[in-house]
Amino acid sequence: MNISIIGTGYVGLVTGVCLAYKGHKVFCADKQQHIIDSISRGVSPIYEQQLDSMLAHVIKNNDLKATTDLNQAVMESEITIIAVGTPYIGDQIALTYIKEAAHEVGAILKNKKDYHVVCVKSTVVPTTTDTIVLPILKQASGKELGDFGLVMNPEFLKEGEAVQDFLNPDRIIIGAIDEKSYEVFKNIYQYHFDAPIIKVNPRTAEMIKYASNSLLATLISFSNEIAAISEEAGGIDALKVMESVGLDKRFTPKVRGQLIKPDATKYLKPGRGFGGSCFPKDIKSLISFSVQRGYDPKILKSVIAVNELQIKRILCTLKKELSGIQDKTIAILGLAFKANTDDVRESQSIKLIRELKEAGTKLKCYDPAAVEKAKTELLGCDGVEFFNDYREALEGTDAAILMTDWEFITSIPFSEYVKFMKAPAVFDCCRALDHAKAKFYGVKYIGIGFRE
Ligand code: UDX
Repeated sequence: MNISIIGTGYVGLVTGVCLAYKGHKVFCADKQQHIIDSISRGVSPIYEQQLDSMLAHVIKNNDLKATTDLNQAVMESEITIIAVGTPYIGDQIALTYIKEAAHEVGAILKNKKDYHVVCVKSTVVPTTTDTIVLPILKQASGKELGDFGLVMNPEFLKEGEAVQDFLNPDRIIIGAIDEKSYEVFKNIYQYHFDAPIIKVNPRTAEMIKYASNSLLATLISFSNEIAAISEEAGGIDALKVMESVGLDKRFTPKVRGQLIKPDATKYLKPGRGFGGSCFPKDIKSLISFSVQRGYDPKILKSVIAVNELQIKRILCTLKKELSGIQDKTIAILGLAFKANTDDVRESQSIKLIRELKEAGTKLKCYDPAAVEKAKTELLGCDGVEFFNDYREALEGTDAAILMTDWEFITSIPFSEYVKFMKAPAVFDCCRALDHAKAKFYGVKYIGIGFRE
């Protein structure tokens, strides 16, 4: 099929490259010339595993064309996927870019004779596709449903694994406004992907995305609440607790003698809490959507509250363990919101750094990839030093806090903590280190959900 995509951000570009790789002809449209130039040269403007090589391949084969000419992209395609950003402003997502894209596509469809399906891929709260995008398309095109089609098709891409997630989906959700839209749109996936296609209406599709992220975040906050109770009681290892909970065969079934460990059990783990561009924003957006509709979402509010409390609890523990943190020097190991990415958006590590600064602590930060982005994020935050070598970050410190479980960090030998730190003490906020081994090397160990 010929497919045009509006927006070459994270979702749009991964979608475009993967669909081209699967044999479709793709136009990636964006207003920013420098991004289009980069894509046209086969160089990905974003960092994502496998994306560079696949982009180079589809550009070379002429299966993907990057352009600023949206008119041509829509005219020469049968489907247009809207994958523009929905920034979180105030307490809800802003639909400015979605509305703008719908206007532009609608205006182009006015002059197009053939049937055309528009797809909303950006994460939008329920009712956006049928009550906001549809009227704009009708008004801008002067046409009715049936002359054009409309679907909502959410993405489930994890940063760092986005290409594999796209190529091997668990489920393909098509929220179609009518039968004709569904029949045309499903051809994108039907013969190219091995996954169940779930046919629903647009509102249900929108809600599936929010419910999926909310449940995963709930697992994390649930684990952190169990960790907090365990800490207060003392002598309980919450990591062992949650690992054992996950071994229930309803989470981890045994198939032909083999334990099948679903990825979801990874979220049943105590840690420093969730961050990133999706979980915090999606849950908060669903909360405000729900409140506007007259339902007070108690669980979702608690998921956010527990996550925010996590930083405060880390701070309290530090104050207690170090007998105060003012004028202490602390190493922060890990700045990215999770391992294997340079993304610091909504990173718990950045939030902790701000709080520690406020409390008068000197900070020495290390991350194998996210130092530059963290510097920009923390611009104007004096007294925070950044290092590309963990040894320099550890040098002369009173404590080290493990905030991102990069292998570069979790594999640091305990002997290095002893060698470089003033007082070797590590606060494992990812529960990634072996506390018995730490003790053996003479390193004081504190862990989320672990108090001796
Ligand atoms: C998430 C969803 O997984 C994906 O399906 C959706 O499309 C976009 O949002 P992503 O934000 O890339 O993807 O990250 P994910 O790997 O799910 O982690 C989200 C947050 O939870 C991170 O801060 C991560 O560190 C944290 N997390 C994850 C934990 O704290 N513990 C875990 O065990 C797993």
